[in-house]
Amino acid sequence: MKFVPGVDIDEVGIIYGNVGTSSFDCSAVAPLETMEYVQMKHDTCGWVLGQVDKITRKTNLSVDKARLISKGQSVDFDEVIIASVSVIGYRDERGLLQTPRTPFRAGESVYRASEELIKRVIGLKEDTEKGAYIGLLHGHDIRVYLDINTLVQKHVSVLAKTGGGKSYVTGDLIEEFIKHGVTTLIFDPHGEYSSLAKKGKVHPSEERFGVEPRDYGDKLLLFSPDTKVNRGARPLQFTLRNITARELLAMTSIKNAKTYLTPLRKALDLLQSSDKETYTLRDVIKVLESDEDSALGSLIGELEYLQETNIFTAQGTRVGELIEEGKTTVISLKGVPPDIQELVVERVATALFELRKMGKVPPLMLVVEEAHNYCPQQGQAASSKIFRTIASEGRKFGLGLTIITQRAAKVDKNVLSQCNTQIILKVTNPNDLKAITSSVEGLTSGMADEIQRLPIGVAIVTGGGLGMPLFVEVRPRETMHGGDAVEVV
Ligand SMILES: Nc1ncnc2c1ncn2[C@@H]1O[C@H](COP(=O)(O)OP(=O)(O)OP(=O)(O)O)[C@@H](O)[C@H]1O
Ligand SMILES: [Mg+2]
Repeated sequence: MKFVPGVDIDEVGIIYGNVGTSSFDCSAVAPLETMEYVQMKHDTCGWVLGQVDKITRKTNLSVDKARLISKGQSVDFDEVIIASVSVIGYRDERGLLQTPRTPFRAGESVYRASEELIKRVIGLKEDTEKGAYIGLLHGHDIRVYLDINTLVQKHVSVLAKTGGGKSYVTGDLIEEFIKHGVTTLIFDPHGEYSSLAKKGKVHPSEERFGVEPRDYGDKLLLFSPDTKVNRGARPLQFTLRNITARELLAMTSIKNAKTYLTPLRKALDLLQSSDKETYTLRDVIKVLESDEDSALGSLIGELEYLQETNIFTAQGTRVGELIEEGKTTVISLKGVPPDIQELVVERVATALFELRKMGKVPPLMLVVEEAHNYCPQQGQAASSKIFRTIASEGRKFGLGLTIITQRAAKVDKNVLSQCNTQIILKVTNPNDLKAITSSVEGLTSGMADEIQRLPIGVAIVTGGGLGMPLFVEVRPRETMHGGDAVEVV
């Protein structure tokens, strides 16, 4: 009789050896892969879902005999393929996820899991209204949706080595935010996200994802402190009014900044108490020059450099202007020096937090690319403090954070640990792996191993309203991906 997938169930193994309630081994009788879902019948609980955690090919082939094979001789030996299965559980009559309290029977069969059982036990629902469609359950045509309220309220982290697909999947998330009317602001150090305004292409091999190319040009607001590099962006500039002497010094690369603190503070105080509505760096420089103190020469030089970046103007951008309900604001920091980037990120994030507290901007998601630069684990960035505050208090005010980094170990743990939804792509650095596996709940040891081998386009996703970590084939983009590497040759 022919096997019909989805109708007949496909026997893939037989339970043997010591059988536990949370895991057991089975001898495989059909091809099986790690992370595949299987189902087993339990005496009292009925059908239970499991997942292949590890596969071993056991043989009795000795080294000597193996050498003979390599020389082309035929040698008889025995082999069995052993799959270690983690028990996921079943839904009881109230719909709660339960695991059996007694072990399965040795000698019982293990079957490839039916999509219906997978969906029911994992609790996957097609929630197009409040869910962000991020891809298909690995190996199946089951759509995975993340609960958007959970994403915004409890923060998100996207972790992978460089080139692992972080910006790509973040683009998917942002497309979903736009479709669901979620207001978003992205700190974009490489100027990658303006491509959300361009229609993408879906390859014929990706049709099963059901994604239609489109663009979101009408939902995108583009700002940058450097409008020469970032053509088409509106200028993002600040007034000097709310900047303290200490902050201004932090933006310069001046040595022994402390010696300049008092004269600079005096100059700012003087300008603040003058009847001028606004003042610029040029005015600060003038006041310092009028001191005729030669020791201030290097400070003046630094301020002149800062002046050239055009980050401070008499009429700054009001941060409220950056945000429009339901739209995505991209702050492109391409071409902006790192110290100025930190300042911009700090200013905007702080102002948004305050505006959000007062209800003057809608609930929103702040997306931070290259987060290890803006909230580092070691040392301080100008923006370190505000990200700690948003990570711990943002949820009360409907201000969500999405932290993206290639170095999980180098991001402030106080921030990363507050991200309840994690999208993990390929990671190989041992320190980063440790940082990730120690912070993800429900990750089996098999899954932790898989992180190092994930192919491009496959993510382990936890939180976001999902009951357990899932392997997800990330969906293709509707819009163009802006982060492609530059071809050198
Ligand atoms: N789900 C996917 N489907 C198809 N291609 C993908 C997918 N994810 C990533 N890619 C491809 O892999 C490459 C790297 O992806 P991406 O730019 O998102 O990496 P990244 O993790 O953001 O890297 P970096 O750390 O350098 O910013 C891109 O060229 C992209 O086209
Ligand atoms: Mg990237």
